[in-house]
Amino acid sequence: MDWYVKGAVIVVLALGAANSQVRASERSLSEGSGQESSSTQVSSGFYTLEQAKRGHLLFNTHCLACHSYDTASAERAVELGRGFWLGERRVAMNLGGRRAHLFPTVYHFYRRIRDSMPAWGADSVGVNDKVDIVAFLLQQNGFSPGKFPLRSDVVAMKTMRLREENFEPLFNGKDFTNFEFLLGPNCKPAPLGCGKSDPSPVFSVEDGEIVNTGKIQGYMYTEQKYWNFTLRFDYRYELPEDWEGDDNEFDGNTGYFLFVNDHQVFPKCIEVQGGNRNVLLPFGIDAVVKGTQDNELRLKVIKPVGEWNSIEIVHQDGEIKASLNGVLIGGVAKGGHEFTEAGHIGFQSEGARIRWRNIRIKPE
Ligand code: HEC
Repeated sequence: MDWYVKGAVIVVLALGAANSQVRASERSLSEGSGQESSSTQVSSGFYTLEQAKRGHLLFNTHCLACHSYDTASAERAVELGRGFWLGERRVAMNLGGRRAHLFPTVYHFYRRIRDSMPAWGADSVGVNDKVDIVAFLLQQNGFSPGKFPLRSDVVAMKTMRLREENFEPLFNGKDFTNFEFLLGPNCKPAPLGCGKSDPSPVFSVEDGEIVNTGKIQGYMYTEQKYWNFTLRFDYRYELPEDWEGDDNEFDGNTGYFLFVNDHQVFPKCIEVQGGNRNVLLPFGIDAVVKGTQDNELRLKVIKPVGEWNSIEIVHQDGEIKASLNGVLIGGVAKGGHEFTEAGHIGFQSEGARIRWRNIRIKPE
């Protein structure tokens, strides 16, 4: 019965918030589908306008009996005798406003609808129609449309985050769109250098994650350059099968390169350390960087080797802040380095098997 209470509270809260949300979705309607950020080629739209229109009609057919998508229609629905009973009260649960934000990703939102809605029979509506309904509901939750339709592709949906506004997925869960590579120890890019730009077999994609064998030095880097940004992703080392030793002896290594402009293995940059034993300690390659890291705090918040850890790296006008699993543990203060220009962001391959997922960025 817990949801009845929660649902009722949220319906009431949604009444206040919905007007501004409706305006937000009207705005995104009038802006059309040209919603691309100027700093990257990733479209932040998870669905197309056409799709949302189809979803609107489908929603009216299959969902409107018990739900609404904005406050006004919720009130009307109840006046007209629609909605479901919560004890003595009739409610048309509003799925607009910020309802979708209760779910971490499009996948979680879609899965709820796929497996449990409509309440009178989840299998009475086909999967593709449900995907269109999700597109419509994303629009009613203030998410802008984009160039490509939403598909019933669970791996891709898991990369579409609903609680982090203005973040763009850098890794799409499927391929290396938005990334390039330079592989080969001491190499500069071909044709002048020995560097290889083909990721295989050092980097590959498996189960919506990037797998790096570490078995040749090099790095994967963003096609775009970034200056001020918030970068978020998860990483997980894979221990060698015959590994012995406690976690803090595991010296698996990688790193995150900021402000790369001249490619070579390894390039001039600020490296935010990715190695297990000193993760998030920033230092300079070919540059003086005054990085700090709280190692005691690292030991408190780091997960056992082999489990996922989350990293956030924020750069704002010269200052770098690096957090592990939501806790700030490293950084560089303003004036602590010489970099002044946007650059590529690199993910290092350096001798250990590691996986990354959910790589996303909010450029500023
Ligand atoms: C017969 C009434 C009924 C119909 C029709 C119906 N729903 Fe629901 N829906 C409910 C009820 C009741 C709940 C809350 C309890 C539950 O989750 O089972 C709910 C919950 C939800 C939730 C979860 C909201 C949250 O924040 O927890 C979503 C999303 C949802 N419905 C979407 C839909 C969609 C999309 C359709 C149309 C395809 C639909 N529903 C059709 C009755 C209905």
